[in-house]
Amino acid sequence: MAKRSARFTCQNCGSVTTRWAGRCDACGEWNTIVEESDGGVGAGPRTIGLAGRKGRVFPLVGLAGEAREAPRIVSGMTELDRVTGGGFVRGSAVLIGGDPGIGKSTLLIQAAARLALNGQRVVYVSGEEAVGQVRLRAERLGLAGAPVSLAAETSVEDILATLQAGPTPGLVVIDSIQTLWTETAESAPGTVTQVRASAQALIRYAKATGVAVVLVGHVTKDGQIAGPRVVEHMVDAVLYFEGDGADRFRVLRAVKNRFGPTDEIGVFEMTGSGLSEVANPSELFLGERDGKSPGAAVFAGMEGSRPLLVEIQALVAPTSLGTPRRAVVGWDGNRLSMVLAVLDAHCGVRLASHDVYLNVAGGLRIQEPAADLAVAAALVSSLSGVALPRNSVYFGEVSLSGSIRPVARSDQRLKEAERLGFTGGIVPLANLGEAAGGALSGAVSGVEALADLVARV
Ligand code: TYD
Ligand code: MG
Repeated sequence: MAKRSARFTCQNCGSVTTRWAGRCDACGEWNTIVEESDGGVGAGPRTIGLAGRKGRVFPLVGLAGEAREAPRIVSGMTELDRVTGGGFVRGSAVLIGGDPGIGKSTLLIQAAARLALNGQRVVYVSGEEAVGQVRLRAERLGLAGAPVSLAAETSVEDILATLQAGPTPGLVVIDSIQTLWTETAESAPGTVTQVRASAQALIRYAKATGVAVVLVGHVTKDGQIAGPRVVEHMVDAVLYFEGDGADRFRVLRAVKNRFGPTDEIGVFEMTGSGLSEVANPSELFLGERDGKSPGAAVFAGMEGSRPLLVEIQALVAPTSLGTPRRAVVGWDGNRLSMVLAVLDAHCGVRLASHDVYLNVAGGLRIQEPAADLAVAAALVSSLSGVALPRNSVYFGEVSLSGSIRPVARSDQRLKEAERLGFTGGIVPLANLGEAAGGALSGAVSGVEALADLVARV
């Protein structure tokens, strides 16, 4: 009999070692290494010899008669369908991650009800709530009449048996992957081994039957899906549902998508009767603008194919600490340090003895470098105490040399600004040509260097 060796798995990143350690060498997390029995997943097949096994190969091209487009299940919730790339793909597995309480279950029960009302067979498996609780929630959301099949199960074998017993569904929602356990793995539910084995079984089910499977995963505060991080590599798409818990707005963002774009976002608002879709997010993220407060600049950004205007707020104040504070919400802290360094080195704007606070309105998280110019404008405005013109938008990427680099789709950004009543803006000089003749032409000025912007504020 083969000797069973001890096996230790990091619960954060899933890396496996042969001895325990206080800190994981792979991801650097402390106290995440736990002994897990091996022989669980995949032990069976490994004992089978290669003889007698065969696979099949297919040509890449010439699959005449096959659908060119992946067959999709369209939910009818525009914001959700945009992020998935046009609906859930049949036979695919999607992971939806997010903080506990952010609204994942609410979003999925609403989508499930929508699909069921459109004649799709949907099974909602809850490992966290009893059937009665899910029903109560659906009632509160006004969805009690939707013919969604509910199940409260945590055993993967039971779930698969239940699914296979009835007619094949179009969509299965598993809420959440952390609550599942499978007999093929011996560790406790919620451990990496269990989560991986459970996800593997469900993904296999999706591929074999053509059912779209949605897995819900809870995220820890550092932004990683705890445990189920290992699932990210196995599924076809990973969507994050994010937002400031205190704020009403929720953003669904694709971070991986084999069947669609990864730069689209869906915007929702949490109301007393569930999540409602926000078709014009610019109006929400602009905040209450009076045009008199220094430190606020409107950034004309792009989120995927959609232009999105959002207010960037900066507060600069003399520091009382030896090392000044830099606090950023909704943007990259390293990017802020870079803009501060360029302001210092090329524009004579010194903030080394000032605390700097930067906030993106509405709890949105911006990733575009095009926000650099708006951030710089907000910082300089706060430092000088002079409010920026109320009806101006800003965008442009700042390079380390202090020059302003052009950004993509400036015409779309300016068109959105015009639609929302803005009458001017400061943009990269190289983008000015595209603005000419288009929206706001004449009222927009181009800058070549960050110092030009500073001179105007
Ligand atoms: P939930 O979907 O249970 O979050 P998750 O599944 O991500 O853990 O959302 C729970 C939160 O949403 C809870 O704090 C209450 C709030 N909520 C509303 O504000 N309105 C509603 O109609 C519902 C159903 C929930
Ligand atoms: Mg939930």
